[in-house]
Amino acid sequence: MIRTGVGKDPLLRRPFSIHQTTSQGQIQIYFKVVGRGTEILAHVKKGENLSVFGPLGRGFRIAESAPACLVGGGLGIAPMLFLAKKISQIKKDCSQDLIILGGRTRSEVEPLMKDFEQLDIRIATATDDGSYGQRGFVTDVFTGHSLPVDCSVYCCGPEPMMAKISALSKERHFPCQVSVESVMACGMGACLGCSKPTKSGAYAHVCLDGPVFDAEDMVWNL
Ligand SMILES: Cc1cc2nc3c(=O)[nH]c(=O)nc-3n(C[C@H](O)[C@H](O)[C@H](O)COP(=O)(O)OP(=O)(O)OC[C@H]3O[C@@H](n4cnc5c(N)ncnc54)[C@H](O)[C@@H]3O)c2cc1C
Ligand code: FES
Repeated sequence: MIRTGVGKDPLLRRPFSIHQTTSQGQIQIYFKVVGRGTEILAHVKKGENLSVFGPLGRGFRIAESAPACLVGGGLGIAPMLFLAKKISQIKKDCSQDLIILGGRTRSEVEPLMKDFEQLDIRIATATDDGSYGQRGFVTDVFTGHSLPVDCSVYCCGPEPMMAKISALSKERHFPCQVSVESVMACGMGACLGCSKPTKSGAYAHVCLDGPVFDAEDMVWNL
């Protein structure tokens, strides 16, 4: 949770995924300007101080002995690099793993590739307009690959895409985890602003219980 402005403008911190970290304690985020907070953040200068509260919540649980398929769409690519790096550190063999990245157009995917390409994991890309990688959606790439039967799926992106990957994973009996978005005010379980309904009927705090959940527990509001 990053305080993007000074004083009360904007009042609330904004949530971001960790894109990657360095051994010197640096954190990199990858973000898009959509409103006041991200606009201010985009103009932060080198050397300026920012108040950061975190890391928070629960991240992806890595199945160390299972082949992994990571699916990131649009800004959902942001947490996938951190996850892919962890997987390549933890797992002895990544030869059956696959990273699928997609966006609307080349500029949403290509600039991020060089960091992913340093890892020894296969990558497949797609863009809606066909300007980079396969033309189409990451869901098309997912269905087009014959993944190992014991594959674990890790997914982040727009809700319709996560709902589709979740359904496709279920068909193929793959365990699937999704990182979901929600409006967040406090980031620590106090305000209920981030709550999302789950299949059990209970509400989950995205900030505390998530943002990563088992896909089969989620109710998709499409
Ligand atoms: C767990 C979590 C992780 C996130 N990780 C990232 C990340 O790594 N990179 C990143 O760019 N964003 C990420 N987000 C989304 C990010 O928090 C919002 O984009 C940000 O809070 C918007 O703040 P703002 O002040 O710029 O916009 P606001 O003033 O809060 O909103 C401006 C307008 O943009 C809309 N809006 C808000 N969020 C989004 C969005 N994500 N996409 C499109 N429109 C939006 C609002 O509905 C509103 O209409 C994450 C959110 C969550 C919950
Ligand atoms: S953001 Fe306040 S409870 Fe989750």
